[in-house]
Amino acid sequence: MNKLLHQFFTNDHHRLEKLLDKAITTPEIDMTFYMPFRSGLLRHIKMEENILFPAAKAIDANKIQEILPQFRLEHGALTALMVPPPTPDLIKVIKHILEKHDFEEEKPGGLYDVCELLTQSQTQELLNQLEKTPEVPLHPPNPTPFAFDAAKRALVRAGYDYDEIIMM
Ligand SMILES: [Fe+2]
Ligand SMILES: [Fe+2]
Repeated sequence: MNKLLHQFFTNDHHRLEKLLDKAITTPEIDMTFYMPFRSGLLRHIKMEENILFPAAKAIDANKIQEILPQFRLEHGALTALMVPPPTPDLIKVIKHILEKHDFEEEKPGGLYDVCELLTQSQTQELLNQLEKTPEVPLHPPNPTPFAFDAAKRALVRAGYDYDEIIMM
């Protein structure tokens, strides 16, 4: 089987990883790279949540329901982490979650393989829809403590501790 969906999403992981790495090459976080990372990650999550998962779920809801909850919680945590203005600590936490999350999606027999197999009769149609996904409209980063606390709570729901990660 051609793994076109796997490839599509994995390429996007690499593109986003490079943007984030470029944002932290200088002591000041480079917003000309961080902002496209931020909108790109939200679009990536939207493509998974609104196109890939529903298509796979329509074929075998039970199979998808077994594996999806943790990915959903991590999407919630990553989305909440896109709200506060970035700091080196915040980026350390984002990288930590993404590394684990992307691995679980990409690994052999992981989420992408499961979804690809279930939706194999509609791969091209899904790719067309994915490519057409518009950018997610964004607010500027929110510097209030509320936004930061909300991100910390979303992390806890996904099984992570912000303060523990930044001490690693
Ligand atoms: Fe994901
Ligand atoms: Fe992904």
